[in-house]
Amino acid sequence: MPAAPPVSSHRGALLAAAARAATEYLDSIEERRVTPTPEAVAALASLSGALPAGLTDPEEVLRLLNEIGTPATVATSGGRFFGFVIGGCLPASMAAAWLVSAWDQNAGLRVQSPTAAALEDTALEWVRELLGLPAGCGGAVVTGATMANFTALAAARHALLERAGWDVENDGLFGAPPLTVVVGEEVHASILKALGLLGLGRTRVVRVPADNQGRMRADALPHLDDRTILCLQAGNVNTGAFDPAAAICPEARAAGAWVHVDGAFGLWAATSDRYRHLTHGFELADSWATDAHKWPNIGYDCGIALVRDAAALRASMSIVAPYLMQGELREPSHYNPELSRRARGVELWAGLRSLGRSGMAEIVERTSSHARRFAAGLHGAGYRILNDVVINQVLVSFGSAEKTLAAVKRLQEEGICWCASTVWQGHTAMRISVSSWMTSEADVDRSQGAMIAAAESA
Ligand SMILES: Cc1ncc(COP(=O)(O)O)c(C=O)c1O
Repeated sequence: MPAAPPVSSHRGALLAAAARAATEYLDSIEERRVTPTPEAVAALASLSGALPAGLTDPEEVLRLLNEIGTPATVATSGGRFFGFVIGGCLPASMAAAWLVSAWDQNAGLRVQSPTAAALEDTALEWVRELLGLPAGCGGAVVTGATMANFTALAAARHALLERAGWDVENDGLFGAPPLTVVVGEEVHASILKALGLLGLGRTRVVRVPADNQGRMRADALPHLDDRTILCLQAGNVNTGAFDPAAAICPEARAAGAWVHVDGAFGLWAATSDRYRHLTHGFELADSWATDAHKWPNIGYDCGIALVRDAAALRASMSIVAPYLMQGELREPSHYNPELSRRARGVELWAGLRSLGRSGMAEIVERTSSHARRFAAGLHGAGYRILNDVVINQVLVSFGSAEKTLAAVKRLQEEGICWCASTVWQGHTAMRISVSSWMTSEADVDRSQGAMIAAAESA
């Protein structure tokens, strides 16, 4: 008879050891290099190799993870990671994630987890309210904005083809009436990926010219009709700029087009009195995608899709089988792309519950003020800021493309803070995205010093 796994008798000690390791990690995050050393990354090889034939004590597994895995992490949960658009993790959502792991709920059906379903319902409603979107939306809590774009665009595909007398979920796209998808020239790659997954085509899109901040030009829109999906953007990943939704949405909706908004981070500006004006007009759209692991700092992974016509979302995502028990209330699996899924709505609920309205607005305002501080300091040091710093994104050029790339490389190697490069409308730049609730003014000043030193020696 095989031996019982060495689990239950040591569980308390094991979880306490994991909590200790996690706490030590977080307590040391400010002193750690932001990026791991090459030696730490090389040591990961010792976690590979053949799967052991037999059991390993869970404490030994945890030891391996902590001794070899921890040093090769990137300190994105600290205050000096400015790459991509990456938030930290609020204490309440981190603690909730631990509890969610203990609960190990399957959030696909309400009967499997009343807690997960109820908190997901509430969290979706809170997000809708915070973003100033219409009542009655259908919603999904997914892994990120890429899947949120996918989910919302699936609802759009359903609605437009249903109007044209075509049942896309049952009959597929072969022979379907054609749809036109309109995107801005500076569309995020995740929209294109979602369009590819949906059979609508990554390159089979009409691109609308953008201005020097990446905003779709309202005066350059093509013909729109009731077979058109128009994708707007609230917060360009490079510049932070917002498409002029107020100028576009009324006309698009009057033409019968479906307006979708990729607002992965920018839509959260709606929570702040100071920045809300940037999101004006986006509430007129038909669907919205956003992320909670970006500006709200809920931790990975957490994206949200909201759709004005809840029935269209349900029609595109619904799953039915005799063994899947349906209750009278909202069943998560009718609105999300997955059936089985972890209860990430609980972490979303917990993070938002801890922040409240004012806490969310404060993160938006503080990180945007940090971005302006970066821009002012780097400009003062003689470097060119390529964008209007409207929210939390800064693009800086240190001179030629070669010099900028060399400065970014130096900065990354040094490990005080982390930024990546980009190419913005033909100009090589370094991107600074201030998205973490952890970033302090001292982090900004220390990082700025490191950036200037890297640029001077590049
Ligand atoms: C505007 C925009 N849309 C979509 C995404 C994709 O988000 P995710 O990585 O959560 O799928 C991003 C990521 O930065 C983004 O900035």
